[in-house]
Amino acid sequence: VSRPGDRGERLRESWTANADAWTDVVREGRIESRRAGTDAAVLDAVLALRPDRVLDVGCGEGWLCRALADRGVRAVGLDGSAELVGRAREAGREEYHHLPYERIEEAPERVGGGFDAMVCNFSLLDEALVPLLSALRALAAVDGTLVIQTAHPWTARGDAPYEDGWRTETFESFGNAFARPMPWYYRTLESWVAAVAAAGWSVDAIREPRHPETGMPLSLILVARPAAGES
Ligand SMILES: C[S@@+](CC[C@H](N)C(=O)[O-])C[C@H]1O[C@@H](n2cnc3c(N)ncnc32)[C@H](O)[C@@H]1O
Repeated sequence: VSRPGDRGERLRESWTANADAWTDVVREGRIESRRAGTDAAVLDAVLALRPDRVLDVGCGEGWLCRALADRGVRAVGLDGSAELVGRAREAGREEYHHLPYERIEEAPERVGGGFDAMVCNFSLLDEALVPLLSALRALAAVDGTLVIQTAHPWTARGDAPYEDGWRTETFESFGNAFARPMPWYYRTLESWVAAVAAAGWSVDAIREPRHPETGMPLSLILVARPAAGES
C-alpha cells in the first residue's frame, strides 16, 4: 500500500508537474483512444443512468463535467491536482473541489452526498483502491451507481506478466511536454472486480469498447451498484 514519499506520492505529484501538458493533449484531442471511443463510451455509460447529479472523481481538467453539464446534468468534479482544478475552473462553471482522495476517505461528506452516479475516468491509478471506493459508497444516493473506466488489462499489459503491479507511464508518445513520469498500478480483471466488491459494490455490467478499425479493446468499463445488505 502506498505511503507518502513512495509511488503514490509521486503519482499525485506527476499530475501537478504535467498539468499543462495534460490539459493540452486532452483539449486538443490528441489521445487517439479517446477519439476512437473512450470519451463517448464513458459519457454514454453515465447518461444511460439518467442522473441528476454526478460526482467526477479525479476530474482532471474537467472535460467530462463540462460534457455532462452541456447535457443538463449537475456535475461536481474533484481532483488532487490544484493546477488541474484551476484549469477546470477556468473552462467551466461546474463545481470543482481540490481534494486528494485521502481527504475524501477521511471525510466523504466534504463533497456533499446523494450522488446518482459517481464516475472515475482513468483516475484510479494507485494500489489501494478500497478506501476510496468505500468512501464513494457513502456518497451514493440510494441505488447510486459507480462507473469506472480504466485501461483494458489485456492491452495495457504490454510484455509484462498478467499480474497486478506497478508500472511507469512516460507519456513519450506526446513528445517532450510531460515533465514527469507517472507511476501507476496495473491490475487484472479479477483484481478490479475484487476491489470493487470489497468496497461494498456489486458489479452490474462490464463493457469493453473496441477500436472501430482494429477491433482491439480500448478500455474496460465497470458499472457497479450498492451490494445488497450494504448501507
Ligand atoms: C489520467 S487523468 C484523468 C483525468 C480525467 N478523469 C479525464 O478523463 O481526463 C488522472 C487524474 O486522476 C487524478 N488523481 C490521481 N490520483 C489522485 C489522488 N490520489 N487524489 C486526487 N486525484 C488523483 C489526477 O490528478 C488526474 O487528474
